Amino acid sequence: MNNKVYIETYGCQMNLADSELVMGILKRKGYEITKELDSANVILLNTCSVRENAEEKIFHRLDHLKSIKRGKPSTVIGILGCMAERLRKNLIEEKKIVDVVVGPDEYRRLPEYLDMAFGGEKGIGVKLSRTETYEDIEPYREEGISAWIAVMRGCDKFCSFCVVPFTRGRERSRSLHSIVEEIKKLSDRGFKEVTLLGQNVNSYRDDGHDFADLLAAAARVDKNMRIRFTTSHPQDLSDKLLYTIAEHDNICNYIHLPVQSGSNRILELMNRSYTIEHYLNLIEKARKIIPGLSLSTDIIAGFPTETEEDHQMTLNVMKEIRYDGAFMFKYSPREGTKAYNMVDDVPEEIKLRRLNEIIELQQEISFEINQQLINKEEIILVEGLSKKSDQFYSGRTDTNKVVIIPRYDSIKIGDYVKVKITRVTSATLFGEVV
Ligand code: 5AD
Ligand code: SF4
Repeated sequence: MNNKVYIETYGCQMNLADSELVMGILKRKGYEITKELDSANVILLNTCSVRENAEEKIFHRLDHLKSIKRGKPSTVIGILGCMAERLRKNLIEEKKIVDVVVGPDEYRRLPEYLDMAFGGEKGIGVKLSRTETYEDIEPYREEGISAWIAVMRGCDKFCSFCVVPFTRGRERSRSLHSIVEEIKKLSDRGFKEVTLLGQNVNSYRDDGHDFADLLAAAARVDKNMRIRFTTSHPQDLSDKLLYTIAEHDNICNYIHLPVQSGSNRILELMNRSYTIEHYLNLIEKARKIIPGLSLSTDIIAGFPTETEEDHQMTLNVMKEIRYDGAFMFKYSPREGTKAYNMVDDVPEEIKLRRLNEIIELQQEISFEINQQLINKEEIILVEGLSKKSDQFYSGRTDTNKVVIIPRYDSIKIGDYVKVKITRVTSATLFGEVV
C-alpha cells in the first residue's frame, strides 16, 4: 500500500508555497496526497512562529492529533516550517506524539526523515542553508487559477520583533530563468495569476538582475496572466520597480508595503531602517507613477515603550495614507529576537484597545474607499465560487479587491469579466456583469 500524506498549512503564503514544494518532493517518492486526515498514515503540519497565538493554535491542533495517534499508533506525525526550526527537538520531547521535525531548508531530505520515523526513530532536520532555493523541484499544484512562486527565501533585515531571520535563515534568490520557466508551465496549464513571494522581494538578485527585471520578465511570459508580488520593504523599493509596474498592464497595481508604526522612535527600535518621512515620500511617488495604485500594510500595536503619542502617530499615518487594506497585529514577544530583551511594557488591555482603534479606523477607511467604487466598472478575474453560496462567483480586481457577482453559465472560472459595482462593505465589493 502506498504511503498517504495529509498536510495542513498555517501562516503566510510562503508556507502555502512550501507545502506545495513538500508535496512535490513526496509525490516523486511515491507518496499519495490526501485531503482526508483519517486516510493518511503521515500527517504533517507546516507551521508558523511569527506570533505567540499562531504557535498556540498549532499546539492545540497537536493535542487533537494525539487521539488519532492513540487510535492508530503507526501514524507518523511531523512538524515542518518555522516552529520546527525554532523549537527543534524540544518539540519531540514536549509533544511525545511528534515523530518528525523538519525546518524550511531541509525539505529535500524529508523522505529520509520519514523513513526513519517508519523505522521507529525520530527524524530531525533543522539545519539552515545559505544556498537552498529548491529551484529544481517542481511543486505539486492542483489545477487552478492562481499560483504562488517563492522567488527568494530567508530574510536579512532583522526587524527587532521578527523571528523570521532565525527560522528561515539568510536571504537567497532563485534564478530568474527558472522562475520564468515555471511561469511558462503554469500559463500552459491555464493558470491566470502568479504571485511572486519573498520576505523582502526588493532584495531579489540574480546575476545582475534585480526584482524589477524579474517582474518585467514574468509579465512578458503571458500578457493574459496577472502578476502579483509580496512583500516589499519600504527601504529597498526602487523607482525602477514603480516604473516597471506602471509599464506592464498585467502587473497588478497593488503594493503591500508594511509600515509597522507611524512613530520614528518606534521604527528605530524596530530596526526598520526608514523614517515615516521617507515612507510618506515613497507612497507619494508611487501614487504619481502608478495611477490608481492600491496599497496595503502591516501594523503592530503595542511594541515595547509605545506611548499614547506614538500610537496616535500610527493612526495619523493611516489617515494620511488611506490604505485600501491592512493586516493588524498586537505585538507578541518572540524569543531570540532583539525586541525580546526589551521590556514588554505595554499592558495587554492597552495593546488590545490600541489594536481595536487601528482596526476600526482601517475598516472606516476601507469602507469609504470602496464606496467610491459604486457604479464604477472594474475588470475582475473570476477565481472561484463564492464561499457563501454556489450561486455566486468570487473574483478580484487588479487592485486586489474581492468582488462577488451572480453566477452565469456563460462565465467560467478563469475568465476576465467586466462588472459594475453595486454594493460594498469594508472588505467586499458586490457587482453585476456588464
Ligand atoms: N508581533 C506582532 N506582529 C509581528 N509581525 C512579525 N513579528 C511580529 C511580532 N513579534 C507582523 C509584522 C509583519 C507581519 C508578517 O507580521 O507586521 O510584517
Ligand atoms: Fe521579519 Fe522584517 Fe524580514 Fe519581514 S523584513 S520577514 S518583518 S525581519
